[in-house]
Amino acid sequence: MLIDSSEQFAAIDSIVAPKETPDDHNLDNTLRPQNFTEYIGQSKVKKNLHFLIQAAKERKEPIEHILLYGPAGLGKTTLANIIAKEMGVNIKTTSGPAIERVGDFGSILTNLQDGDILFIDEIHRLNKSIEEILYPAMEDFKLDIIIGKGPSARTIQLDLPRFTLIGATTKLGSLTNPLRNRFGATYRLEFYEKEDIQKIISRSSKILGVDIHSTGLEKIASCARQTPRIANRLLKRVRDFSQIKNHKMVDGVVAQEALEMIDIDPIGLEPSDRHILRTIIEKFNGGPVGLGTIAAATSEEIKTIEDVYEPYLLQIGFMTRTPRGRMITEHAYKHLGIPYSHKTPDALL
Ligand SMILES: Nc1ncnc2c1ncn2[C@@H]1O[C@H](COP(=O)(O)OP(=O)(O)OP(=O)(O)O)[C@@H](O)[C@H]1O
Ligand SMILES: [Mg+2]
Repeated sequence: MLIDSSEQFAAIDSIVAPKETPDDHNLDNTLRPQNFTEYIGQSKVKKNLHFLIQAAKERKEPIEHILLYGPAGLGKTTLANIIAKEMGVNIKTTSGPAIERVGDFGSILTNLQDGDILFIDEIHRLNKSIEEILYPAMEDFKLDIIIGKGPSARTIQLDLPRFTLIGATTKLGSLTNPLRNRFGATYRLEFYEKEDIQKIISRSSKILGVDIHSTGLEKIASCARQTPRIANRLLKRVRDFSQIKNHKMVDGVVAQEALEMIDIDPIGLEPSDRHILRTIIEKFNGGPVGLGTIAAATSEEIKTIEDVYEPYLLQIGFMTRTPRGRMITEHAYKHLGIPYSHKTPDALL
């Protein structure tokens, strides 16, 4: 029987998707850096934050509200926790979609203490009514509560503790302007340099008790999509493989075998990435083609393509975004071994 390849791919669980899975949760917590020294890379952001924290400490004031943005798995949650530790304050963690009711959010805010950090992950997914409460809370540390209904309704205002809001988002563009403007500092996390990913894998290997050779480090780092969470996840897969095969040390050969077994190619693409690229090349002559059409043709969800596959394909220059849709570049053709025959439509020139 012929299996439709798109269904086959849709059914595969992504190994390199940077989003946190329940299985990752424990791994993330074990390997999560606890201070700026352990937090590798992102030197510009680290330096800026360091100054911000020192200055706030000297003034004996809470730090200003901070917005962290960048693709999944690059270390936003980790950074928020490190900031709290460095400031010596409590951190309360929640997320945009988890705050459903105004009352719930009111009680989160009133239960904070002076100096505490409120960390809201996926802050672009806050609903409108919650966002409106957040404005005066961020600006003046006030909470407006409406009592009663209809003509007799009145507003009372409560004072809130002087807290710091740290927001994290993978989609800066989805944040409303009034919310964005209320952050004192906004930092973008970048994809990691290969050497930094190697350092991260090396640190994680020590914690997990994996004996790893520099060739093994290099191999895993090349496939980690410049993302610490994926680096750690691949390391764990390679460790399991080498344990079952009774290898004492993870070297380049062992790592390669393990990565081949889980179908990750030398630059970290998995079957779904290659399927998306091939589909655009074979069915749409390399694009430009809209996201919705790509999703329909590959049986992936639009959101999955946008959040999981596309950021890295854009980052390595295999795909570009044009006003008329996504286009595949010559690099990708070369990588897949397909002759480059694409002609850019005149309208785009
Ligand atoms: N700079 C770093 N140095 C070492 N390890 C890191 C670094 N950044 C992240 N990690 C590792 O990657 C894991 C994922 O990071 P984290 O959960 O902070 O990412 P995130 O940006 O919050 O992702 P998401 O957008 O999915 O919430 C961490 O648990 C940690 O082990
Ligand atoms: Mg996070």
